[in-house]
Amino acid sequence: MQVISTVNEMQTCANDLRNAGRKIAFVPTMGYLHEGHLSLVRKARESGDVVVVSIFVNPTQFGPSEDLDKYPRNLDKDLEACESEGVDYVFAPPTSEMYPSGYSTFVNEESLSGPMCGKSRPAFFRGVCTVLTKLFNIVKPHVAVFGQKDAQQAAVVKHMVKDLNLELEIVVAPTVREADGLAMSSRNSYLKPFQRQDAVQIHKALQKGAAIYESGIDNIDRILAEIIHHLSTVRRLRVIYAEAVDLETMKPLRTRVEKGHTLIATAVWCDEIRLIDNIIL
Ligand code: PAF
Repeated sequence: MQVISTVNEMQTCANDLRNAGRKIAFVPTMGYLHEGHLSLVRKARESGDVVVVSIFVNPTQFGPSEDLDKYPRNLDKDLEACESEGVDYVFAPPTSEMYPSGYSTFVNEESLSGPMCGKSRPAFFRGVCTVLTKLFNIVKPHVAVFGQKDAQQAAVVKHMVKDLNLELEIVVAPTVREADGLAMSSRNSYLKPFQRQDAVQIHKALQKGAAIYESGIDNIDRILAEIIHHLSTVRRLRVIYAEAVDLETMKPLRTRVEKGHTLIATAVWCDEIRLIDNIIL
């Protein structure tokens, strides 16, 4: 496994791989890798013949009062995990390499980024679209793999790739959960055991919504009401949003579930820790 920290070296390497006819599969991450990330790496392995993982805590996707400084980092452990998954290249640039002084260009997706996380984290998707456009130009992947846990991010990225005629395929892999149902996230490391007990209820609430739907009720208001009620009974949780949207367009759905296309997504505060999760009905 080769670890690369400069844009120049990564681009040269990507060009060489492409010229040799290799198919580059890419997993962009902010590090502190868990089983969810590793499932994306395995998916990348199936989708290409060279796997590149980027590890970069992207400052432009954090708001001024968010957790950039305390975001968990452990490069040595991440490199070990990548090595044992058979990753070929890790691109781990310093911030100055991605955003040198005088940097002033940003990419904005202006529709799917609007609701949900876009409303509660106004800088987020601009930062994500910007860093991913840069990473796609640096790593030059044929395929990039994202997790369904960040469903809105996946939809925004797919749309951006289409709008900007970027020549790569976006693959979305299923959410990986802990044994108790909690969606895997690097931010779970912030949870103390007593907070974690409450955080598990996020998935339970979504499952309650799914159970209502499976019992034959397809009224979205009714399903959301059940989910919000469940979340509001949990001591440490405060709902930021719980919404039903079209899985591809992120447009709010107001009346009935459209089977296979309805994303129920929620973000909550568990004390001061922001967590997200979703299900597809
Ligand atoms: O999902 C993430 O970890 C980040 O948003 C991403 C896609 C790596 C961009 O920084």
